Amino acid sequence: VQNGEKATTTPPRRKQRAARLPGRQDWSSWPHYQAAAAGFRGYWYPVGYSSRFTGKPRQITLLGEKIVVIRDRGTVYALKDRCPHRGVPLSEGNQQFPGTISCPYHGWTFDLKTGDLAAAITDGPSSPICGKVTQPTYPVEERLGMVWIFVGDGEQPHPIDEQLPEELVGNAAVVGSRIQPREGNWRFACENGYDEGHAKYLHRTALWRLFKPMPVWNETRIIQRGRWIYRVQDKQYWTADFPGLGRWDNQAWFKMKPPKQVGNIGNTISHRETNPVIAAQEFPGFASVSMPGVLRIVYPTFIHYEFYVPVDADNHLYVGVMADFRRGWRALPFYAKYLGFVRWLFHGQFSAQDKWMVEVTDAPPEKLYRPDDSLLKWRKLAEDTCEDRVERLAGQGITVTVPEVS
Ligand code: FES
Repeated sequence: VQNGEKATTTPPRRKQRAARLPGRQDWSSWPHYQAAAAGFRGYWYPVGYSSRFTGKPRQITLLGEKIVVIRDRGTVYALKDRCPHRGVPLSEGNQQFPGTISCPYHGWTFDLKTGDLAAAITDGPSSPICGKVTQPTYPVEERLGMVWIFVGDGEQPHPIDEQLPEELVGNAAVVGSRIQPREGNWRFACENGYDEGHAKYLHRTALWRLFKPMPVWNETRIIQRGRWIYRVQDKQYWTADFPGLGRWDNQAWFKMKPPKQVGNIGNTISHRETNPVIAAQEFPGFASVSMPGVLRIVYPTFIHYEFYVPVDADNHLYVGVMADFRRGWRALPFYAKYLGFVRWLFHGQFSAQDKWMVEVTDAPPEKLYRPDDSLLKWRKLAEDTCEDRVERLAGQGITVTVPEVS
């Protein structure tokens, strides 16, 4: 800042893009989003149940990259699944020595932790190639009974707990889940999940609706807090349990006496004096979406998440998770209910309707209408977050490709 000028907080590229937004009907208004056919880099993604990954190497595709995943003495490792020698998949190989994986063709053997070429079996232990070749590796974590892999551009990965929905971190939860490979681009899946207009129409024949009401979409307002975008119902009264926090109510909560279970949720004591609008904005909302494509639907006694994991430009992995945060024997009815009917009605028939739409949705051009405001807000969040990442990485000396506005 010079000569007392006021500092601007909006980066120049974002300003330029904002100036171009009006009237645009395709994804070129969001160049990062448009370019992210194979997903956003710089995030942790769930790739499968932990039990699926054993000492037998297994190939997965994530953000268009072939990755070999293997468990060694309890820890899961991930490396690029292409031998640098002649291009054979390492996932076709096996483990000749603890802590390593060997290529099936000529026996090049890589350290699982570092990716360093530890031995070239067919050239003896003192082969001069050893120490000169390193296979790219991926950071791996296990959470919620699943394996998560970070795909970035060489930056230090952020802790996975910073990315997970906060109530899932440090809170015991009973989880019911379904993981399913699906056709269609991950962006269509994410937009479908958060699509305000589809819930009452596409799902009008879903049996799930016999048990759970759909939101009153025409009363929805969209707000943004931190890294989440929320939809808040103005009229519908309902209550949600938030793990470790206590009980939150929607608009009704400032009219009611605080339930006994209320915990440390800050301003609850003065809830009756709280301005209704402010109260609603403080409320995390019924439906929300966050980077890199995570939908969160809060029901009265449990929370449903959908992680739309990009496999490649034409396929994604649907990871649906339901979490209930009650402890001990109180958790049993939830799990029984999940196995008894939620898994079939919601993660089955209801979700199959979404799957169908994602398969048949076409790429832009598109004509949007009022309920699509939810999509526009999500795209803007994604675009701005990508801009911030580009700047943050530039500060670390890492250059990533910035898509041009066409
Ligand atoms: Fe892998 Fe030759 S191709 S060792």
